[in-house]
Amino acid sequence: MKRILVLASGTGSLAQEIFDADFSGEGAEVVALICDRPDAQVLQRAEVRHIESYTIPMLPDRAQWNLELETLIAALRPTLVVSAGFMRILPEAITSRFRIINSHPALLPLFPGAHAVRDALNAGATETGTTIHWVDAGVDTGEVIAQEKVEILAGDTEESLHERIKIVERGLIVATIRMVLAHLESQ
Ligand code: GRF
Repeated sequence: MKRILVLASGTGSLAQEIFDADFSGEGAEVVALICDRPDAQVLQRAEVRHIESYTIPMLPDRAQWNLELETLIAALRPTLVVSAGFMRILPEAITSRFRIINSHPALLPLFPGAHAVRDALNAGATETGTTIHWVDAGVDTGEVIAQEKVEILAGDTEESLHERIKIVERGLIVATIRMVLAHLESQ
């Protein structure tokens, strides 16, 4: 069986879509969630779906946190790691060791970073979208796998635009996981 590991930090609406998807056709299943925030709603979503979850709160010593995260990921033996709203930059030791994809709410290379939706609005863009990409040690710099556009409407706020982007992200992340899994061997 191919093993999918989800990383998420917040509300978890993307993670929910992954938890709800049936990957048996790909010979895969979601084995666990790792979250860095003990109060994140995504932890309840995992519990409801009976998906094992692990919380690793950030430590004063970032190197120690990196090591804890790497050790935990290794123990979970993922075929594919999916960063779905995980708001931490992963260190090179992790990005080079595991196959990791990330969903980003903009059309990379435009608007990388933590405020992609706001940045697109502030730039006066007329369209933005979502990108699924391989994760490397940079900030949203890894190779692009799939993208989908979202129109920016007059009167859009960061919240309204982000909600429309997230609808597209949910579909694209699941479709991309299916596509990527077809090319990966189980461990
Ligand atoms: C998504 O837009 C993701 O791309 C971004 O954070 C959002 C996560 O939303 N990094 P949710 O917590 O899954 O609802």
